[in-house]
Amino acid sequence: MNKIYEKTIRALFFKFDPEKGHEIVKKFARFPIPTFCRDTTELNVRIKNYKLRNPVGLAAGFDKDAKMISLLSSLGFGYLVIGSVLKQESMGNPKPRIVRYENEQSMVNSMGLPSVGIDKFVKNYLDSIIRTDIFISIAGNTLKEFIDIYKIVKKLTPFIELNLSCPNTENGMLFQDADNFETLAENVSKLKDGIIFVKVSPVINRKDAENLITIVELCKKFNIDGITAVNALPVKEKSISVGYGGLSGKKIFNFMLNTINLIKEYSNDKLILNACGGIFNSEDAFKALILGASTVQVYTSLIYKGPCITCEIKKGINVLLKKNGFKNLEEVIGYKSKLSNK
Ligand code: SIN
Repeated sequence: MNKIYEKTIRALFFKFDPEKGHEIVKKFARFPIPTFCRDTTELNVRIKNYKLRNPVGLAAGFDKDAKMISLLSSLGFGYLVIGSVLKQESMGNPKPRIVRYENEQSMVNSMGLPSVGIDKFVKNYLDSIIRTDIFISIAGNTLKEFIDIYKIVKKLTPFIELNLSCPNTENGMLFQDADNFETLAENVSKLKDGIIFVKVSPVINRKDAENLITIVELCKKFNIDGITAVNALPVKEKSISVGYGGLSGKKIFNFMLNTINLIKEYSNDKLILNACGGIFNSEDAFKALILGASTVQVYTSLIYKGPCITCEIKKGINVLLKKNGFKNLEEVIGYKSKLSNK
C-alpha cells in the first residue's frame, strides 16, 4: 500500500511546495472516511485512569487548527495531538518555511506556530466528528497565555500537551528553561484536571541533559504526568526564509531514543513517555516502547509513507509481540529497565 501511495499521491504532492500539499489535504479533511484499520485489545495502552485503543499517535503540528480531526480520526490512530494552539491568531513565520530532505526521509520546518487562535480552534474542534482520543497541544509566549488556554482546553479533553520546545519562535523554548518551567508547572498543577504532558527538545549535549533532568524532577514534584520526547531539532537551513528551523524525520531517530532513555533513567517510573521523532515502522516503535515509551507519535513518516502507516505499525507491533513472547503491549513498555532490575 505504501508503494502505491509513494508512486501516486506522494509523487503528485511532492511536485508542489510542501505547504501547498498540506493545504490541499486540509480542504478534503473535513469529513470522516470509513475506518478499515481495527484495533486488537493487545495494543490497548493505559494512561492513568484512561485507556487508549492503541499506542500510535499523530504528533502535534499536522493539524494545528483542529480543521482535520474528522478525517484524521478515521485513520486508525490511538490518539491525535491537535495544535499547538496559541491564545491569539498568529501568521507564523514568512514562507518558504518547509523544506524536504527526500533522500533522508526528513524535513525542516520553521512554521513559527501559526494558529487561528483559541476561539476559532475551539469552534473547529466542536464542529468535528471525533472517533479517537484527542490530545491538545498548547503553546504560549507568557505564563498567562499558557494558563488562559489551559483553562479552556481542559474542558474539551483530559489530555493536554504543553509545548515547551518550538525551535521556530522567539519564545518557543522559553518555558523549557528550568526556572521558567518551575513557574509554569506550579501554576498549571494548581488548575490540573486530567493528564498533562510536556513536550521537550532532543538532548544533544551535556547542558541539555542537565536541563532535562531538572525538568523531569519538576514534573514529578508538580504532578505533571508525562513527557513527549522529542520536538524537532533546531538547525540552520538557508532555503527557509528565516534561515533556521526544526529537523524532523529519520535523521532525529537516535536523538529521540537517547532522550527517551535519559528521561526513563531519571523518572523512577513516575512519568508516562510518548516517543516522537523518526518513527517509520513497527521496529522503530518497538525500540522506543522497550526503552519505556507508552506511546509513539508519527508526523514526518505520515508524509513520506502515507496514511497506511498507522495500520502497518500496529500490525507490525502485533507480530513483534508474538515473535518475542509478549502477551500484550503493557508487558513491552519499559521492558529494558524491567530486565536490568531483575
Ligand atoms: C512550528 O510551528 O514552528 C512548529 C511547532 C513546534 O515545533 O513546536
